[in-house]
Amino acid sequence: MTIGVQSNDINEHFNKLFSSILLEQQKFDHIKPADESKKEVLNEKLKEYESLKGRGFFYPFMATGRGHGPFVELLDGSVKFDLINAIGVNLLGHSHPIYIKANLEAATSDTMMCGNLLSYQEPYELSKVLLNAVKKSRLKHFWFSCSGSFSNDTALKILWQKKAPNYRLIAFQKSFAGRSIAMQDVTYNQAYREGMPKSIQVDHVPHYNYKNSENAIQETIAALDKLIETNGNTYCALTIELIQGEAGFIYGTKEYYKAIFEWAKKHGIYIWVDEVQSFTRTTEMFAYQMFDLDEYVDVVTIGKVLQAAGTFYTEELNPKAGLIAGTFNGSIASLNAGKATVRYLKEGNFYGEKGRIKELETKFKAKFKALSEGSCKGKIPYYGGIGTMLSFEVGDGSVDVTNKFMKKLFENGIISFSAGKEPTRVRFLLPLPLLDSHIDEIFSIVEKTVLETIN
Ligand SMILES: Cc1ncc(COP(=O)(O)O)c(C=O)c1O
Repeated sequence: MTIGVQSNDINEHFNKLFSSILLEQQKFDHIKPADESKKEVLNEKLKEYESLKGRGFFYPFMATGRGHGPFVELLDGSVKFDLINAIGVNLLGHSHPIYIKANLEAATSDTMMCGNLLSYQEPYELSKVLLNAVKKSRLKHFWFSCSGSFSNDTALKILWQKKAPNYRLIAFQKSFAGRSIAMQDVTYNQAYREGMPKSIQVDHVPHYNYKNSENAIQETIAALDKLIETNGNTYCALTIELIQGEAGFIYGTKEYYKAIFEWAKKHGIYIWVDEVQSFTRTTEMFAYQMFDLDEYVDVVTIGKVLQAAGTFYTEELNPKAGLIAGTFNGSIASLNAGKATVRYLKEGNFYGEKGRIKELETKFKAKFKALSEGSCKGKIPYYGGIGTMLSFEVGDGSVDVTNKFMKKLFENGIISFSAGKEPTRVRFLLPLPLLDSHIDEIFSIVEKTVLETIN
């Protein structure tokens, strides 16, 4: 594909620039403590930014724009393992050749952003790659948005129009769907909508009960039946995260999802899977593919790792003209990166039982097992997750202990984030470029930090 201007001179400079940037970034290949002389720079900028934003940050973090693979440099000169990746965005790690190239290619184009009115080649190319990746399902169309929340709003509008006036929505307890006015009602955590009026009708049912897995299907189906009993069949759709991210990675089994989806189909209720966080991060490109649910999905939303966001839907759900629009598809650099990322992941050895993602999951779980049965016995009561989405509990799993642990872990060189409430878990959204030597180092830091936090 020709992107923007090209000439021998540009190509020569492009190649030189690409390798010079990569060579410089590759120097960030190990963790390092802060530089005494730079600590003040970070503190001052953060303080000023906090006053501009009107609120403090959880970590004293501001990036320099330098980093490579799992490593990121901060303004205080420290280099850390980034195991949260902007809450799941940077699956390929820092300064991946795909990211550098996508930015340089975008610089040869004449504008910054692509939109819906006058199209460019980038959204067209990315749509083809994405729809090719879902071809075993009935999903036929893809609509770009600029955030996961907005791709969910688009999903809801499409479903509402199709099922009008049946506007009620089924969601799951502990779910997270984003920050838009509609999605704050789909999100289970009430603290995220304090003082807000209720704007849409959502009913939450229990997700997979891993503590009583034998009865999990019955528990959810009974709650679903109860909804119909109470409200009649006034539902347009059921929305679900197959791997509940903000809940600390709660997920069910293939049989569980099939039973729920069969129930929905029986009642003429559409199935909308929110893969904003799980897209590309499990042992198949989509979590619904990993659970073999291709035949059921009517709408799927994605974001984060794509470096853009959007909504897949079936032919029958294609909305009437006028319902969905908007200025932006995304930036040219983002759409370039999205296309290259999906191709790279599809063509490389990342998915399936023998793929790199499963291998990373297995290695991390083995390390957690060794720690929780060895030097940290009784101090890591839970570890789990799937693919590159892993979590663990420290001590009593309270918010206070977990926050204390994560802040110490940050000081010791690893960036993580929390998920869930009662219990609260430490969450890792792993980048792919992790070597065995990195994993060994990560676990010796986790061990040291657990022992420092819990006596
Ligand atoms: C499952 C899920 N849905 C939706 C969103 C919202 O995406 P965004 O923050 O890009 O609006 C998120 C973000 O964390 C998410 O995890």
